Amino acid sequence: MVSIGIIGCGHWGPNHIRIFNQLQNSQAIMCADLDQDRLGKIRSLFPQIKTTANYKDILKDPDVQAVCVASPTNTHFQISKEALQAGKHVFCEKPLAMRPEECLELKDLSEKAGLILMVGHVFVFNQGILKLKEYIDSGELGTVQYAHAIRTNLGPFRYDVNALWDLAPHDISIFNFLFNACPLSVSGCGQKYLGSTLEDVAFATLEYPNKVIANIHVSWLDPKKVRQITIVGDKKMIAWDDLDNLGPIKLYDKHVERTSRFYESYGEFQLLSKEGDITIPQVGFSEPLKTQAQYFVECVEQKRHPDCADAKKGFDVVRALCAVQESIGRGGSPVTIKG
Ligand SMILES: NC(=O)c1ccc[n+]([C@@H]2O[C@H](COP(=O)([O-])OP(=O)(O)OC[C@H]3O[C@@H](n4cnc5c(N)ncnc54)[C@H](O)[C@@H]3O)[C@@H](O)[C@H]2O)c1
Repeated sequence: MVSIGIIGCGHWGPNHIRIFNQLQNSQAIMCADLDQDRLGKIRSLFPQIKTTANYKDILKDPDVQAVCVASPTNTHFQISKEALQAGKHVFCEKPLAMRPEECLELKDLSEKAGLILMVGHVFVFNQGILKLKEYIDSGELGTVQYAHAIRTNLGPFRYDVNALWDLAPHDISIFNFLFNACPLSVSGCGQKYLGSTLEDVAFATLEYPNKVIANIHVSWLDPKKVRQITIVGDKKMIAWDDLDNLGPIKLYDKHVERTSRFYESYGEFQLLSKEGDITIPQVGFSEPLKTQAQYFVECVEQKRHPDCADAKKGFDVVRALCAVQESIGRGGSPVTIKG
């Protein structure tokens, strides 16, 4: 039984408490939040849990083996660092930190101390995303040409990070996973329509190896809640809609063929669209947050490296976010990401 301390019990933290309590081999025994009202709410939901306003109490408690950091993004690095220094395994919500160097420092600390450090890239545990990966890896789509992601809604708003840092870690971690690579260069644009100092809307374009372009649109100022990804291959195309419970994946047997005939007006060839069936494959259901928590707990129990979402993967995402942010600051000029 792995005993967990949860740090940050706002909107998301209680989900972690619920899940760690549901698993056979873990238990959330203590939680921390600066806000007494939140702690009162947590005690009413989970009467057995110990609560504190000071997360350092969790770090000092010898019964706590691992911590789950679900506090605001700008606290992730400091809290994760102290937790590792206190000898605790760490599961940290996305993004792992706000600077690539911080991710490397955490990685180094965890490796030297022999502790598990995992980041909450929850979509790599999503059955729909795993299905996309299956189709890409099997070659069914042919050569992947480009992809795009939309993650929009009206709110929820954040006050510590902008919409890019809040939402795009999901899509960047998904694309890095699907393409088994990191972007080579990025560009972005964004705007602060709501009058704060933070961008509410951002568009990021990531260039992956083999000329694969992936575009990401994130916004908390949009009429529709959308969670979608489209991937275009030269044989087939596929779309994922996380909000479509009946069939989150649609495989389109569509592609374009070039005829060998010579058309003077079109140049040397003509493009013909080929349209076949649309398939809705079965996608198993499991709560990604639960699968992710189970994986973390097993890594702790078995002293197994969390390959699916380790500190290096957290670093890759943070490095790409920093590069997109830099591009936004430079009016959209491309920023190269060095190996
Ligand atoms: N994986 C996902 O799908 C997903 C979804 C939502 C949020 N998140 C992540 O979870 C984290 C929290 O998000 P949220 O929506 O719950 O935010 P939130 O603002 O609702 O809650 C954060 C809580 O942390 C508390 N807090 C702040 N500083 C603290 C400290 N030093 N010690 C203890 N508690 C502290 C605040 O009082 C607040 O209650 C963020 O990093 C976010 O990116 C992930």
